[in-house]
Parts: sequence; C-alpha cells; structure tokens
Amino acid sequence: MIKKILITGGAGCLGSNLLEHFFRQGHEILVIDNFATGKKEVVPEQPRLSLVEGSIVDQALVDKSFDDFKPDFVIHSAASYKDPDNWVEDTKTNILGSIHVANAAIKHGVKRLINFQTALCYGRPSKIPIPINHPTNPFTSYGISKHSGEAFLLQSSLPVISLRLANICGPRLAIGPLPTFYKRLKEGKNCFCSEAIRDFLDMTDFLRLIDQALEESAPLGIFNVSTGLGYSIYDLFCAVCEYLEIDMPEVPRLPVGDDDVSEVVLDPSETEKAFNWKATVNFKDTIHNQLRWYDKFGINDIYSHLAEPKS
Ligand SMILES: NC(=O)c1ccc[n+]([C@@H]2O[C@H](COP(=O)([O-])OP(=O)(O)OC[C@H]3O[C@@H](n4cnc5c(N)ncnc54)[C@H](O)[C@@H]3O)[C@@H](O)[C@H]2O)c1
Repeated sequence: MIKKILITGGAGCLGSNLLEHFFRQGHEILVIDNFATGKKEVVPEQPRLSLVEGSIVDQALVDKSFDDFKPDFVIHSAASYKDPDNWVEDTKTNILGSIHVANAAIKHGVKRLINFQTALCYGRPSKIPIPINHPTNPFTSYGISKHSGEAFLLQSSLPVISLRLANICGPRLAIGPLPTFYKRLKEGKNCFCSEAIRDFLDMTDFLRLIDQALEESAPLGIFNVSTGLGYSIYDLFCAVCEYLEIDMPEVPRLPVGDDDVSEVVLDPSETEKAFNWKATVNFKDTIHNQLRWYDKFGINDIYSHLAEPKS
C-alpha cells in the first residue's frame, strides 16, 4: 500500500537515505528541511517527492505542510547540533520544533511518528552495553534538547516509536571520526584518536528496522538500535588505514574530552525481541561500505556535536 510519509530533516544523512528508500518503494514523500546541515541537491525534483524549504521552528510552516500533504506517517529526523555552544538553536529546533511537529501530527491523526534519538540522552552511562531502561542524564546542549523533545513526544497522545541510535554508517555520513579520518588520510594530514568506544550500524540494517517500524503491528515506545558491539576510535582508524592500504601512521591517542562520553554501546536486546530484528553487517564491512561510498562520491563538509579539540 502506498504511504504518505512526511520526513523532517529529509535532506540530512538519515533523512535522505530514507527518502531514497521510500521512493524506491513507491511511497509519496514530503520533506521539510532548512539545510542547516542537509543539502538541497539530495531532494531531487520528482513527481512523488515534494520539498518545503524552512524550519520546523516555524509553526505556521509546519501546520501548512501537514494541512497540504496530509501524511499518514511522520519520520522526525530534523535536529540541530552543529554548534555545541548554540543552546538557543538546539532548543528551538530540538524542543520547540519537535512540539510543532507532534501537535500537527496529532491534529492530522497520523498512524505513527518515528523519532530519532541520540545515545547522548543517556549521558555518561553506568552500564555497558546501555540497557533501554538505563537512566537518562544528558549534559550537552544537543543531548539535553533532544532528550526534552523526545520526552514531549512520548508523553503526547501520538503513537510514537523513538529509536535511540548507534552511529549509523551509510551514504552522505558527514559527522564524526570516520569521514574525518578518510579525508585527512587521503590528504596526507595527521590524525588523532580519542580513547572513546562506540557502536556502528550499517545503513541497510537500519533501513530494515524502519520498514518494520512502519508496520501497523509494530510496537510503540523507546528502543535502542545497535549491534551491541563496541569498537574504539583507534579500531576505526585502523580499519580506514587498512581500506586505504596505507602503512599505519603514528597516531596520538587523546583522553576523551569533557564534552564527550568515553563509552557508548547500546544494548539492542529488547529491540531484537520486539521487532524480531538483528543487525547483520559486521564492523569491518560496515566501515568499508562507507569508505567505498566516499571513494565514489567524496566528502566535503564534516560536522561534529563536539567542541574543537584544543591543540
Ligand atoms: N546518523 C546517526 O548515526 C545518528 C545517531 C544518533 C541520532 N541521530 C539522530 O538522527 C537524526 C538525523 O541525523 P543525521 O545524522 O541524518 O543528521 P543530519 O544533520 O544529516 O540531518 C539533520 C537534518 O535536519 C535538518 N534541520 C536542522 N534543523 C532544522 C530545522 N529547524 N528545521 C528543519 N530541518 C532542520 C538539517 O538541515 C539536516 O538536513 C537526528 O535527529 C539525530 O539526532 C543520528
């Protein structure tokens, strides 16, 4: 059955992958994006694909988009994070924007809203892998504002699935150490590795779960989406060197910064049971798939939700 899916932040990394995925499935799509970190060219002019250029902070724009398009499903992927000191913009987009989207979705009786949440909502976890019932204690502008936005959605009358995500690797990934290592190593520049440990998930595994989350029978609530396996940033660096077939350069290993979390590995066991889903792509293939994409399409602007390291 053809679905009408409204994607906030549809010009971003996850949003644009979903847009392509849904388009191939024959669905009708409306994207709302202000291109803060997304790119206009990833939303091509197509008959079943419309774009509203603007911010979800603009309530009139959100209401009109819902009134005109009348979506059955909402994927809420828009988020602000690119300046860790810009608490005002993060608050506006991640809290106020989420409230506008949720209220419009309630008014239109959408069948489901899928929200994407950062693992930073857990703050500095006391248990690894982080179970879904672990207390939340975010401490950054991004983490706190995303957490508040999610809290609003979950207390609303909307049928919400909030997916707390590992680092999803796939086309157009432009945040974090992976694109940074690739670009710098290709340019012959030095790198450094933090001591942090993270979990990485291939886009194909993520898209499989999204398809299931849009089924009428899918469970609602909060879910961790991850392989459940942690790798160090140094492991990531080694995987990039191996892929580029370069001799491993000396690389300084720096302690995790004050604004970062040393270990983030989400426990997906409840998600695996609830959705009968499990990640299938291993770490090396996930990273190499990503690097093959950079080989083909390149990578320019790279964003971070962390402050610039003081050198
Ligand atoms: N990619 C991951 O691995 C990952 C991990 C954890 C959580 N998430 C969450 O998934 C979502 C998508 O992340 P992403 O990696 O695709 O990031 P992204 O930056 O590529 O996408 C976010 C999109 O939101 C848009 N946007 C920002 N502010 C907006 C506003 N006020 N109005 C309309 N659009 C706005 C940006 O222009 C961008 O296109 C975010 O909510 C993020 O918190 C992603």
